[in-house]
Amino acid sequence: MTSLTELIPAPLSVSTWGERVFVLDEDTTLTAGPGVGSAERWLRTTLQAATGLPLREGEPGPSGRAAENAIELRHDHHLPPEAYRITIRDDRALIVGGDPAGAFAGAQTLRQLLGPDAFRRARLGRAAWELPEAEIQDRPRFRWRGLMLDVARHFMPKEGVLRYLDLMAAHKLNVLHFHLTDDQGWRIEIQRYPKLTEIGSWRARTKIGHRASPLWDDRPYGGHYTRDDIREIVAYAAERHISVVPEIDVPGHSQAAIAAYPELGNSDVVDTASLTVWDTWGINPNVLAPTDNTLRFYEGVLEEVLELFPADAGPFSPFVHIGGDECLKDQWRESDAAQKQIGNLGLPDEDALQSWFIGHFDKWLAARGRRLIGWDEILEGGLAPGAAVSSWRGYSGGVAAARAGHDVVMCPQQYVYLDYRQDAGPDEPVPIGYVRTLEDVYRFEPVPSELTGEEAARVLGTQANVWTEVMEDQGRVDYQTFPRLAALSEVAWSDLPAPADRDFAGFERRMTAHYRRLDALGVAYRPPTGPLPWQRRPGILGRPIDGPPPHQ
Ligand code: ACM
Repeated sequence: MTSLTELIPAPLSVSTWGERVFVLDEDTTLTAGPGVGSAERWLRTTLQAATGLPLREGEPGPSGRAAENAIELRHDHHLPPEAYRITIRDDRALIVGGDPAGAFAGAQTLRQLLGPDAFRRARLGRAAWELPEAEIQDRPRFRWRGLMLDVARHFMPKEGVLRYLDLMAAHKLNVLHFHLTDDQGWRIEIQRYPKLTEIGSWRARTKIGHRASPLWDDRPYGGHYTRDDIREIVAYAAERHISVVPEIDVPGHSQAAIAAYPELGNSDVVDTASLTVWDTWGINPNVLAPTDNTLRFYEGVLEEVLELFPADAGPFSPFVHIGGDECLKDQWRESDAAQKQIGNLGLPDEDALQSWFIGHFDKWLAARGRRLIGWDEILEGGLAPGAAVSSWRGYSGGVAAARAGHDVVMCPQQYVYLDYRQDAGPDEPVPIGYVRTLEDVYRFEPVPSELTGEEAARVLGTQANVWTEVMEDQGRVDYQTFPRLAALSEVAWSDLPAPADRDFAGFERRMTAHYRRLDALGVAYRPPTGPLPWQRRPGILGRPIDGPPPHQ
């Protein structure tokens, strides 16, 4: 059993009346009322596997209480969306959710209460399964609680993505921002453009470490998700109340697409027919040609994306991320075709051309009942009216967007870029960027104080971003992501005080229990004492930045 004070993310309130426990046994039933189906399926499957108990379907209990020796899930529309209440008394555990997502969050909390062995996939055979008598009331602070996975720089096979969805659900996170395309790889099958994956999903070799490193991995590298893989991922996520927001990055970060279809590039400036999928890291000058042909091509891509990521799969499923970040404009300046397009459209400059490009897809998506979200560069040259912004270059883009009435997801690189190193020590593997410790993430505040209440309401929430240039496999992704994602989950879910007043020592204490859960889940997190010998990467060049990051 886990102590009530060891839950992560911390619930809103916990009250208890003594030391008694409800001991589950062979006769304990698991029952669900209408409207909580997914929570029941998940809880029964998970707990049957971990406990070895049958957890048969039982009769519902009386009003306000579960039946005897029963776990019961119910819906109560008096509770807000995503909220839940757990009441454990005598041998009765009642989980009441304001909606199915709330019941699911409550089920996740119940698993934590059963102790770390409840996170295993089979029974160890020694535990007594006990729930502490208590009442827990809980609800999230933010609606958007996300993780961005970059599966373009290094591919995460489908099984790994499903595993990450489970890890997200265990931390009450509900948005997977799925970065599917970049210069180094195109990872989603598009039927009408097969070369996107035939050519664009693999590269001949890969830079090992920071781009200044002399090392190469000379093995061909690649992978992509088929249409059915994507459908499976979206359905698996939906069953866990996670919305998957696909990112198709335009007009920068597009060399893999140009390598597959050279006409997408600025072929009057560079020989796009000789471009290959990029094998190193950095900001790439080979951006899409701002032509009508390119627009039509990506409309074709997005038509298939909309089919594979249906709008009704979760609360944020209407969103499609179109990137918009780091689009170097040099080729557009040099290209006669791009300059002619600027003239034809009556635009002042290249920034306005990017704005036209993004605005086109904003209208295109809106006409199909969908919403555009992009990185904060989409603010440059005028932001399309319905668009939402992922604020990554500090807070300022998010502040400007919120003031202009746009929805915002706060993910400033200074706090929640999990590719940044976790410690200043020499043993950190391939150290990149500023030192961003577990405590730094714990003290991250998604809502900047300069926003008014009305503007602050535009902050949908927050997410951590996992860029994978130097994360070549699941172990490296785990190491960079955990334990910091646990801190992010508490920032996103719990009602924390102002950053300076947050009880980090208390969080670290709770993490002691949480590390046991992560162990049971098989997560290769960074231990508090530093990397294990095989988690180091001696001899591989990183690019650490010294000193504290700028606040804004
Ligand atoms: C980004 O980090 N380029 C969004």
